[in-house]
Amino acid sequence: MTRGATDATACWCGPLTIPATTLARVPDRALGKACVCPACAGAFGDGVELAADPGGRPQFVLTNADDRLTLAADGAQVLSWRHRSREILWQASAPEFAPGKPVRGGVPLVFPWFGDDPERRGRPAHGFARNRRWLLAPGQPANGVSLCLGSQSADGDLWPHAFTTELEVRLTPNPELRWRVRNVGATTWSFEQALHTYFAVGDVTTAEVRGLEGVPHEEQASEPERAWDPHAPLRFVAETDRIFQGVPDRIELVAPALDRRVELHTDGARSAIVWTPWPKKAARLAQLGSNDWRRFVCIETANVGCNAVTLAPGAAHELTLRLRVADLR
Ligand code: BG6
Repeated sequence: MTRGATDATACWCGPLTIPATTLARVPDRALGKACVCPACAGAFGDGVELAADPGGRPQFVLTNADDRLTLAADGAQVLSWRHRSREILWQASAPEFAPGKPVRGGVPLVFPWFGDDPERRGRPAHGFARNRRWLLAPGQPANGVSLCLGSQSADGDLWPHAFTTELEVRLTPNPELRWRVRNVGATTWSFEQALHTYFAVGDVTTAEVRGLEGVPHEEQASEPERAWDPHAPLRFVAETDRIFQGVPDRIELVAPALDRRVELHTDGARSAIVWTPWPKKAARLAQLGSNDWRRFVCIETANVGCNAVTLAPGAAHELTLRLRVADLR
């Protein structure tokens, strides 16, 4: 995109065009980096700015007195949340900011299936929502951004169902992610979903997850610890990949190495996945440096397996995650 273009220019956010007169008013720093069409540039209130990630992809920066959150249009992925200048989420040490690729870190979205392709047809692991560029939803919240994605005719082979989905991210002042999925077709279908949140813990071997004691679960790690007490807070001594079903609406992550705890408050989520790869599996994962495995834990706010969501025509489901951070006392 260059200043002085005489023709209208296509906007990343959809089939909109930007008249040359509008382009002339756009600050140089925004050209070619983020969406500058009138619909997008004029859409946001105080505390939301358009910017670009290190790969030049558009992203939104939400700020308030204590917090700074970045949200990429690609995958509708929260990439970072800083609270009082401390990063609460985690990002891989060799992140890739490329079209169609989720960054390993932040909050990738898993939809409409969880894990490997359940039909073994070579479709991407964890669905396709994290690989797509989302669009701005019609109507934006006062202190946040709402992005949307819908089925297109070309998607039929990937997933045959007619849907729309919207992720609204706000600072209220704490981060709140509100994720709606709607059936806009004529038949009933089911889907799985997860907010696959990577939390920074400093040292995973000292971290602890509280709130899942006694909750039924299945361990799917290939080299898990031999035995554990399902009624004790979850600690990490080996590769861990547990799917919990029938979870409470509050889970807590304690990270003594960073002197903090993070609370996850959820609505509309019946599953949670707790995942840490340990060095052997980490060596096979893209974007991870050699010691990265030690620095994060994923707690996924989800509906998977026996808690997949079934939607009749016209029905919608909403899942909400609110995050809070506090110092350890
Ligand atoms: C978790 C799964 O949700 O995601 C793990 O439970 C998986 O088994 C992990 O390894 C990462 O998946 P990906 O596709 O982002 O590498």
